[in-house]
Parts: sequence; C-alpha cells; structure tokens
Amino acid sequence: MLNKRKLGNQGLEVSELGLGCMGMSQSYGAPNDAESIATIHRAIELGVTFLDTAEIYGPYINEELLGRSLQGKRSKVVIATKFGFNIVNGKMQGVNSQPQHIRQAVEGSLKRLKTDYIDLLYQHRVDPKVPIEEVIGVMSELIREGKVRFLGLSEAGADTIRRAHRIHPISALQSEYSIWERNLELNIIPLLHELTIGLVPFCPLGRGFLTGKLKPAADYIVNDFRRGDPRMQGENFEENMKIVSFVERIAKKNRSTSAQVALAWLLQKGDGIVPIPGTKKRSYLEENTLSAKLTLSSADIQELENALPKVAGNRYNEQHMAYIDR
Ligand SMILES: NC(=O)c1ccc[n+]([C@@H]2O[C@H](COP(=O)([O-])OP(=O)(O)OC[C@H]3O[C@@H](n4cnc5c(N)ncnc54)[C@H](OP(=O)(O)O)[C@@H]3O)[C@@H](O)[C@H]2O)c1
Repeated sequence: MLNKRKLGNQGLEVSELGLGCMGMSQSYGAPNDAESIATIHRAIELGVTFLDTAEIYGPYINEELLGRSLQGKRSKVVIATKFGFNIVNGKMQGVNSQPQHIRQAVEGSLKRLKTDYIDLLYQHRVDPKVPIEEVIGVMSELIREGKVRFLGLSEAGADTIRRAHRIHPISALQSEYSIWERNLELNIIPLLHELTIGLVPFCPLGRGFLTGKLKPAADYIVNDFRRGDPRMQGENFEENMKIVSFVERIAKKNRSTSAQVALAWLLQKGDGIVPIPGTKKRSYLEENTLSAKLTLSSADIQELENALPKVAGNRYNEQHMAYIDR
C-alpha cells in the first residue's frame, strides 16, 4: 500500500503516486478501454487513488471512461479534472476561462464523471483575457456550492500563482517536472514552498522517453503526440538517448527500472510532490507503483542532477509553448 501525501494546507490528502489517465484516450497510441478500466481498478487495489483527467482529454471521452470505471468506487478515489480550453467540433481552439465557460465545463465534467463533486479542479492553462482573480472567484463559488473541494492551477507562472492564492488558497500546481524537465526549479518551486502549495508533476516519465522504450518520432502515426514531439525528432532523439542510457545506468545499479528511477527521484524531491505517471496498462502501473519502495542514494541523486546531459529540443511545439504562463 502507498503512503499518503498532503497537497497544500487545506486538507487535500492523496496517494503518494497518482495515475495519469490522459493516454487512455489520446496521445500515445490506440486506446484499449477494457485494459484501461482494468488499470484503474488495479490502481485502486494498489492504493493509487489519485486519478487525473481533464475535459480536453479525448475531448470528453477520458472523463466518460473514468465515470464508467468508478461506478460503486467513487468514494475510494480523489478525482482531479481541468477546464480551460475552447472545444470546437472535437478540436481544441485556444484557451477560455470566461466565468460562464468555467461553469459549463464543470457541469459537463460532473455529468461525464458521474459524480456530484470534483475533488481537485484545475484551470488547465492561464487565459490572458480573464484576470486570474475573476477565474478563482468563480472556482471558489463552485466550492461554496459543494461541486468542487480544492483548487489547482496548471502551468501557471509565479505572478499568477501569487495573485490566485490571495483570492482563495491553491492546493496544487500541476506542471511538467521530471529528471529532464527542470524549468520549475528556479522560481516556481521556491514559491510553492513559500505558499505551501503542492506540486503534481505531469509527464514524470518524459512522455515515456525516460523509460528507454520509445522509438523516434517518425515511427509513430500522425495523430500520436510523439510524432510531433520536438524531443523525439531526428538528431534530438539520438541526443536524448544519452539521457536514457544515463538513467538506465542508475537503474541497473539499483536493480530497478528506468521508470522507477525517474519516479523515485521525484518522490525524493519533497513531501509535497505527487507525480502522476500515465499508463493504460496494468503491467506498467505495477512497475511504476514499486518506485515508492525505491530509495536512491544521495550519490545517485547527485549524479542524476549534475551529470545528466542537456536535453535537446523544447517540450512542446511553438503553438503549445505559447500557452505556458511564464
Ligand atoms: N496539465 C497538463 O497540461 C498535462 C499535460 C500532459 C499530461 N498531463 C497529465 O499527466 C499525466 C502523465 O503524463 P503523460 O501520461 O503525458 O506522460 P508520462 O507519464 O511521462 O508518460 C506516459 C507514457 O509512458 C508510458 N509508460 C508508463 N509507464 C511505463 C513504464 N513503466 N515503462 C514503459 N513505458 C511506460 C505510457 O505507455 P502506455 O500509454 O502504453 O501505457 C505512456 O506512453 C497524463 O496522463 C495527464 O493526466 C497533464
């Protein structure tokens, strides 16, 4: 069984590892709903009860999948979902955190998730057209109405986090953070410590790259995220394989797998950190869950932090980088 960790200071407690559900419906190969549902059920058995989804995943079908999987099990899990994009004809068309849009999105999420409350509601991306004070105002009304329990932001910058937290305490920031993506360390992580806000690192396995099992971008089909991932293109792929071999070396030394090293590194970065590795397979889930039992020595951690080769390529293409609030 996994330990619990606190996210923020408002009473939100979750399993020390969560389960990212996005890939069950998009981005990383063909969906397999039966295996995905079995994975969610196995996660609950293993004590991985912090489940991450969003309106935009699919869109909609990922929340529906969770809703179906959680019939009779709702009280055993903590559900995190997100709003914040316009969805037109099934496609994401820019950000939208207008108050009326937030309310509509949350009503939709509640229906699809077949629940009357969302444990953790994130704004998925900051909307430069709507002051964050107004966004958090609406989100906190949803708490008062009993539809939401705790609030989060995703890929928000320091100024936004500070302003948001003044209106209503933010329990968690969900942003990309992993051995190879360290952009939060300079400004954001110190701020999270100062304000006691938890960190939920997404893509903790570098979208699978850090496990050493990925192929170059060109080997994936057109609508697979990895096909356009700058880090998996041609020379970048070759360059980044050096990182993988480095992680593999530490894994061998610890009689573990690279995925476990990537997750253990995050777990050892602090008590307020809860990674949400994504998978649609029970075998990977079981492997990833064992990372909670792996303790890396300070020498291993230092090696990973200081000697890891520099990552080649941005984590998103230009369009998606533009949504990051920094
Ligand atoms: N807030 C945001 O903007 C944002 C952005 C991206 C993701 N997220 C959330 O964060 C979650 C995690 O991120 P992610 O899923 O994108 O990336 P990730 O967790 O870094 O990697 C997921 C990929 O790794 C593979 N994988 C998982 N465990 C493995 C193992 N032990 N060995 C080999 N491969 C393994 C998965 O394969 P299979 O698919 O074959 O199982 C999947 O392709 C998502 O599910 C989503 O909920 C949030």
